[in-house]
Amino acid sequence: MREKIVAGNWKMNNTMEEGLKLTSEVVHMVEDESINQVKVILATPFIHLSNVSKLIQGVDNVYLAAQNCNEHKSGAYTGEISAAMLKSIGAEFVILGHSERREYFNESNQLLKERTDTVLNEGLRPIFCCGESLEIREAETHESFVCQQLTESLFHLDADSFSKVVIAYEPIWAIGTGKTASSEQAQEMHAAIRTHIAQKYGQEVANEIVILYGGSCKPSNASEIFAGKDVDGGLIGGASLKSRDFVDIIKSF
Ligand code: PGA
Repeated sequence: MREKIVAGNWKMNNTMEEGLKLTSEVVHMVEDESINQVKVILATPFIHLSNVSKLIQGVDNVYLAAQNCNEHKSGAYTGEISAAMLKSIGAEFVILGHSERREYFNESNQLLKERTDTVLNEGLRPIFCCGESLEIREAETHESFVCQQLTESLFHLDADSFSKVVIAYEPIWAIGTGKTASSEQAQEMHAAIRTHIAQKYGQEVANEIVILYGGSCKPSNASEIFAGKDVDGGLIGGASLKSRDFVDIIKSF
């Protein structure tokens, strides 16, 4: 049985007070509503991580993620955050290569390869984002585009390390736009990703890899999307900022 994961990506939202309130609400709902089949991950801005970590301590299935991490181990990189720092405050996951970072901060497949290695070497698990723009979707080259992202950033890993990676398929045209991929489009791409992984690492490894969907996921469409047999959960942006919506998405399984 593959893990089921729903991760909330807060992006650059929430003051400290708002973030702690949101975390407390989510934790209470997860406990009160006995949610234990799904791993819940909170991907907060860096400054929240330490405090959120304290709030989720002792809560069985709520985990902490950073939204990014530098590729160097340590040193003179003013303003940057290392994997060791993230580990030291209790983060277990790191989102890498979100399309917003690829676009606004020029993160390339090669750079993300280095960051993946750094994160894994520190014993953290990358949530590796991939996904195509509308232009690529319309040109019908989305499958090869996404497979190339995976090949160039991840396929140097041995099977053991690769098994720790969570993949998040996020079509850029569906992020924050209110436009969701149809459940068929999501399942089709997730299946293509799994096949691509199987070709490199074998079917057994591919069957165990968690592939999340991201892009305008909300309580009203989550259960349909999550019903895809290769869809193992979601990476949720906007709807993760409201505790009720986020927890209802988690409960869509
Ligand atoms: P969205 O964002 O749910 O607001 O579309 C998803 C993401 O970017 O992770």
